Amino acid sequence: MTAIRPLVAGNWKMNGLSGSLSELAALRKRVDAAPVPQADAMMCPPATLLTGARDVLEGSSILLGAQDCHSLPSGAHTGDISAEMLADAGATAVIVGHSERRIDHGETDALVHAKALAAYRAGLTAIICVGETEAQYRDGKTLDVLRSQLEGSVPEGARAVNTVVAYEPVWAIGTGLTPTPPEVAQVHGLIRSVLGQRLGDSEAGATRILYGGSVKPANAAELLFVPDVNGALVGGASLKADDFYEILAVYA
Ligand code: G3P
Repeated sequence: MTAIRPLVAGNWKMNGLSGSLSELAALRKRVDAAPVPQADAMMCPPATLLTGARDVLEGSSILLGAQDCHSLPSGAHTGDISAEMLADAGATAVIVGHSERRIDHGETDALVHAKALAAYRAGLTAIICVGETEAQYRDGKTLDVLRSQLEGSVPEGARAVNTVVAYEPVWAIGTGLTPTPPEVAQVHGLIRSVLGQRLGDSEAGATRILYGGSVKPANAAELLFVPDVNGALVGGASLKADDFYEILAVYA
């Protein structure tokens, strides 16, 4: 099997005004000056900054992603944004099923599944997020929860070329807490085996499985070199060009 090329993706969440594009420009400058050819880098700003970010990143190796999409291509859905619109704005990927959307907006596995299909329809890579809550973790239910989220959220037609899975324990997001490397290894191993049952071993073996939740420059190497971890989905630390670059540079 060929080695999986890691991906380090940043998720700005609901942060960033037009002035924040200067931070993206600073990141671009660092990547241009000292490329990290062994890994892909991606930034997912809020939808309002997508076209501005596309302009900043033009000609750069940094990929552009979005944070959510509607399941339909167009129509009477005030305030929503379709995957086609994201592609038109320059995105090549979209995060779906982030726990903040599952919690804030009651998104179900079925809806996340539909959004992943919408991403494929528009030619985007779907970054499908899964993760257990603190109570589920405490009760030892992590593996059961993840299996059920994966079975409900990942379409059977998913392929390694258009799908990334991100494991984000809800209790680790923005808290400074992280699972231990052996826990991460166990969960990522389970994710790959569930993907194998759904997509076949060859697709599962080539699919990128990211870890997300309090990834910082200080803990990146410890978390990202765990078996079956193929990169990171970074929240808070993606807002600062230097922090994000340092995380990316663990693959240098
Ligand atoms: O999607 C990234 C995320 O939820 C992790 O956020 O701030 O803990 O890195 P953070």
